[in-house]
Amino acid sequence: MKHLISPLDLTTEELDHLMNIAADIEKNPDKYAHICDRKKIATLFYEPSTRTRLSFETAMLNLGGSVIGFSSADSSSAAKGESVADTIRIISCFADIAAMRHPKEGAALVASLNSGIPVINAGDGGHQHPTQTLTDLHTIRSLKGKLDHMTVGLCGDLKFGRTVHSLINALARYEGIRFVLISPKELRVPSYIREEVLDAKGIPYEEVTSLDNALPNLDLLYMTRVQKERFFNEEEYIRMKDCYILTMDKMALAPKDMLVLHPLPRVNEISVEVDSDPRAVYFKQVQYGVYIRMALIIYLLELEDRIC
Ligand code: CP
Repeated sequence: MKHLISPLDLTTEELDHLMNIAADIEKNPDKYAHICDRKKIATLFYEPSTRTRLSFETAMLNLGGSVIGFSSADSSSAAKGESVADTIRIISCFADIAAMRHPKEGAALVASLNSGIPVINAGDGGHQHPTQTLTDLHTIRSLKGKLDHMTVGLCGDLKFGRTVHSLINALARYEGIRFVLISPKELRVPSYIREEVLDAKGIPYEEVTSLDNALPNLDLLYMTRVQKERFFNEEEYIRMKDCYILTMDKMALAPKDMLVLHPLPRVNEISVEVDSDPRAVYFKQVQYGVYIRMALIIYLLELEDRIC
């Protein structure tokens, strides 16, 4: 049985394969409308979500399947003290596949070790968010036509932003990728990402604090919000929260073909005036997320033979 806990659970060949299916889904949605007839996804969300949970649910409904689940720990028996291991054993009796978001790092891994059905990590604490990464990669490949030979700026909360950690892991496997890590000193990428991914693989990167200086050299800018829910100290959050705000003045410094991505939700870090710039693709990114999650569900349920 396959699970998706980290983006590295998929080889680059498997990623290409999923993105090819996702591209075909976009062109020929009717071909996929009944692939998951009589299948159920359980969305087990112990933390708030708009995009990820509803994207999974939309993906399964688009495939002809159905959805069960909960959207907060308080509305599940976690509130009575039930463990993740016990919960997934129960859910394995009800559903064919599960997507889980949990505030604790490693929770999805624990679930996968106790599960009778494929488990997808929909975000575990400040650790990883592999389906956001699939979404990001599919967006980049669809709009840039490649995943290699690019300078990628990652800006904002690089310490707690799990989407950033997953994206670095995934892009580091492609040739000619260079990272510009733009953050305040307090919110730098964790040392395990620097040492075990970037340094270990010899990936070129620089850590900078100025977004303005970085912008002229970027092929992609990945903006992130400061992750309020992961701060222990509210004063520290308030001090950091508006550290970067992308405005049209700043966009004037960027190349004409630079793409701006954001996993969303946005707080203040991208001014709404930027939304109408053709380089701002964060709302398109959400639609690509549905296609790639449809492809992932088909793949993990081993239903590709039903594609006609
Ligand atoms: N990108 C993302 O994970 O959004 P949600 O928190 O709304 O799921």
